[in-house]
Amino acid sequence: MPLPLMILVCLCCLPALASGESTCFTANCHRAIMELKHLHAPVRDENCLACHVRITTTHPILVGNGKSFGLVAEGAKLCEKCHDALGRKRVVHGPVREGKCLACHRAHGASGEQLLDVGDDQTSFCLGCHDPASFKGQFMHGPVATGECTKCHNPHESSEPGLLPAKGRDLCLRCHADFAKAMAAATVVHPPVSERPCTSCHTPHSSPAAHILKKKMPDLCTDCHEQVARKLSEATVQHKPLQSKESCGSCHSPHFSTTKGLLPNTEQEVCLGCHGSDSLGSPPLSNLKKELASKKDLHAPVKNGTCDSCHDPHGSPYGKILKGPYPAQFYAPYKEGDYDFCLSCHDKSMLKFPETTIYTKFRNGNRNLHYVHVVHKRKGRTCRACHEPHAGDGLKLIGKNGPRFGDWRIPIRHTMTPTGGSCAPGCHRKFDYDREKAVDYLKDQKK
Ligand code: HEC
Ligand code: HEC
Ligand code: HEC
Ligand code: HEC
Ligand code: HEC
Ligand code: HEC
Ligand code: HEC
Ligand code: HEC
Ligand code: HEC
Ligand code: HEC
Ligand code: HEC
Ligand code: HEC
Ligand code: HEC
Repeated sequence: MPLPLMILVCLCCLPALASGESTCFTANCHRAIMELKHLHAPVRDENCLACHVRITTTHPILVGNGKSFGLVAEGAKLCEKCHDALGRKRVVHGPVREGKCLACHRAHGASGEQLLDVGDDQTSFCLGCHDPASFKGQFMHGPVATGECTKCHNPHESSEPGLLPAKGRDLCLRCHADFAKAMAAATVVHPPVSERPCTSCHTPHSSPAAHILKKKMPDLCTDCHEQVARKLSEATVQHKPLQSKESCGSCHSPHFSTTKGLLPNTEQEVCLGCHGSDSLGSPPLSNLKKELASKKDLHAPVKNGTCDSCHDPHGSPYGKILKGPYPAQFYAPYKEGDYDFCLSCHDKSMLKFPETTIYTKFRNGNRNLHYVHVVHKRKGRTCRACHEPHAGDGLKLIGKNGPRFGDWRIPIRHTMTPTGGSCAPGCHRKFDYDREKAVDYLKDQKK
């Protein structure tokens, strides 16, 4: 609002001027200025002529077009008579660039400090010129909710983009000091957190997504992690926590951690944090925490502290989010490839030959008893008929309670000798097996 010439018309001042008073403030003259709550220093000092200059001989003017005072300078030049000039930094606020100091400030005084008609909440003041869209999200950033825009923006100018008073990340860490401390102590920092501004994931003002995230989970993460995105969209067996609100955050820390993989804890502790319950899912999945604590003989990959050697935590095309094919039933007609999950770590020839001397110790003489049990066109016994996947309380991961068979658990009653062993399961009569001196089952039966 450029105001080249001032119109100072004030009939009520006549008596004061006539009586020779030199002040502009009297009970009747320019009282509105005097009544402002916070006065500009030169106004308080009644130094009106620091800014105004008389352009007519009479004041106040009774006739004519009413111009008796002008300004000593226009726009920002006026202010620069006493204040340092603004506009030298790399980024200058629009109205400052145009010298419109009075778009924000009141020349004489104002209801608020800094010659602004603004209280503690600057929202409506700034949004008088700015699009309110980015301030309307359901989730508000603390200082935005209280309208403290100038905590993060310099109203005049800055060497940083966005009129920020510091580099983006430094600005955030000024207030988020606990976060800065924890990040400095972390051994693994997520690259976008260490190398990019925090605003690559967060909005500074508000967002429809919780934690003022730019996007809801998991899209926020899968935008960069395409491989995981592909897995998510292709997985026929999905892992429930990925579909939850926290999604990726139910296992990963988004910022930093002390372990690789950005897990807040060891991998097993993360998994057992949920899989240590008797009521997870319906029907409930087994309580792995209890199982691992109560059984002494752990399957080597479990003993080594992993779960993801066998399960893909992000989802998989195979049952129980396993990393390879493994029949889901107790009995399964045998097809080659069906056991590739187990055979990705175990001898691939285990189920190939009816006779073998090397591929398994589960033999009677050379007769491959794994082959006998598993490789059956109609009713192959899957590995779970005899072995536990995670931990056993007998030898060779054979559980004392035996596998589930409907409501029943089939006891296996397996024993071992240096050259073989025996089973007396709920499936058939007791059989011994011996790798060196094969047991003759027919003869055995005739006895
Ligand atoms: C720091 C500079 C400055 C000082 C000091 C100053 N003025 Fe002003 N004054 C302005 C500016 C700039 C305008 C026009 C812009 C506006 O609308 O506020 C103005 C406008 C006015 C107006 C006309 C518009 C209005 O607000 O009614 C009057 C009357 C006025 N001044 C009186 C005074 C008196 C009386 C004093 C001394 C007590 C004074 N001014 C001191 C800068 C100043
Ligand atoms: C005649 C000298 C003079 C002119 C011209 C002048 N100012 Fe000031 N201004 C001062 C003084 C003196 C102070 C008090 C500084 C202090 O307290 O350190 C001040 C303080 C301020 C403050 C801080 C207010 C507060 O409450 O502390 C603002 C904002 C300001 N001026 C804006 C302006 C603007 C905008 C203009 C131009 C329209 C302007 N000034 C013109 C002398 C002037
Ligand atoms: C977009 C609004 C806006 C414009 C335009 C603006 N200011 Fe300010 N100014 C502010 C705000 C807000 C503050 C208070 C800053 C704070 O609280 O941190 C302020 C503070 C000031 C101060 C006192 C504190 C300081 O930074 O020294 C002066 C002096 C000042 N402005 C002068 C000017 C001058 C001169 C112009 C024109 C060249 C101008 N302002 C234009 C919003 C504005
Ligand atoms: C916690 C710090 C913070 C607070 C508080 C804050 N902002 Fe921002 N604002 C930012 C950051 C960071 C940017 C992004 C700057 C960039 O482009 O890199 C930004 C950008 C902006 C922009 C540029 C356009 C846009 O939306 O990207 C405007 C305008 C803006 N803020 C106005 C405001 C207003 C008005 C308020 C108060 C209601 C406010 N800001 C409060 C940090 C903040
Ligand atoms: C009088 C109108 C006006 C007011 C009041 C105003 N702004 Fe602005 N603001 C502008 C204009 C004009 C631009 C420049 C837009 C452009 O360049 O596209 C701008 C730009 C910005 C930018 C972006 C700077 C950049 O280059 O990235 C930020 C941030 C901003 N304003 C914050 C604020 C804040 C915070 C307040 C309140 C303290 C505020 N504005 C008050 C007019 C205003
Ligand atoms: C002026 C201080 C200040 C600055 C600067 C600041 N914040 Fe905040 N931030 C807060 C406060 C206060 C809260 C609310 C704390 C609480 O509720 O526990 C908060 C909360 C947050 C939250 C949590 C929101 C939620 O709902 O869980 C995030 C995320 C956040 N800030 C990110 C940032 C980012 C990114 C920046 C830099 C662009 C930043 N902050 C700069 C003060 C600040
Ligand atoms: C890779 C994306 C990403 C980046 C980059 C990022 N954050 Fe976050 N942030 C998140 C997610 C996701 C959450 C949600 C809470 C959770 O899952 O723990 C969050 C939550 C927060 C919270 C609130 C909860 C808490 O942990 O206290 C704060 C504060 C926060 N972030 C600050 C920051 C700051 C400061 C930066 C920059 C140094 C930053 N964030 C960078 C993704 C990110
Ligand atoms: C801006 C891109 C970006 C976003 C967004 C992002 N990341 Fe990352 N992330 C990376 C980069 C770059 C790496 C390091 C290279 C790599 O291992 O792929 C990484 C690595 C990781 C790692 C592996 C660390 C390791 O030790 O191998 C995990 C886990 C991870 N991110 C999870 C997340 C989660 C969860 C989110 C969402 C909260 C997320 N990321 C969002 C870019 C991103
Ligand atoms: C159920 C827990 C869990 C959830 C939920 C989860 N992850 Fe993971 N993620 C893991 C584990 C465990 C690892 C392996 C960590 C290691 O390297 O030791 C991992 C590894 C990663 C890696 C690095 C290796 C790789 O596979 O590329 C990335 C990147 C990753 N996750 C991203 C994500 C993203 C993105 C989401 C959300 C879509 C997500 N994760 C959800 C548990 C989880
Ligand atoms: C945040 C909790 C949570 C975490 C952490 C978690 N899970 Fe799960 N998991 C679940 C839920 C919920 C289900 C589905 C239960 C149901 O509805 O049947 C599930 C199901 C499973 C299943 C069975 C899948 C199926 O299709 O039957 C496996 C296997 C599994 N999780 C392994 C893991 C592994 C390995 C980890 C660690 C990398 C892990 N989980 C971490 C919550 C979690
Ligand atoms: C050596 C491979 C392997 C490792 C390592 C492994 N699992 Fe499994 N897990 C399996 C197999 C195989 C099944 C399917 C068992 C079945 O269907 O009979 C399974 C099933 C599950 C189930 C579903 C149980 C149910 O009641 O249906 C959960 C939950 C599970 N695992 C969690 C874990 C967790 C947690 C870890 C890490 C502590 C882990 N697994 C490590 C192979 C493994
Ligand atoms: C990620 C690799 C891996 C997968 C997958 C895996 N195992 Fe193992 N398993 C091992 C390792 C390593 C050992 C210990 C070395 C050995 O005996 O070969 C082991 C040992 C065994 C043992 C002998 C235990 C003992 O006490 O000597 C049995 C039985 C077994 N696994 C069965 C299975 C079955 C059944 C599956 C499929 C459901 C399977 N494994 C899948 C890695 C794996
Ligand atoms: C009918 C019960 C039974 C079934 C079904 C069974 N196993 Fe075994 N398995 C055994 C017995 C008994 C041993 C111990 C042999 C010995 O050392 O005396 C054994 C041993 C093993 C060993 C240790 C190495 C070896 O071959 O001696 C592995 C590995 C193994 N089994 C994997 C599997 C896999 C994979 C499946 C499913 C494809 C499977 N088993 C199915 C009973 C069974």
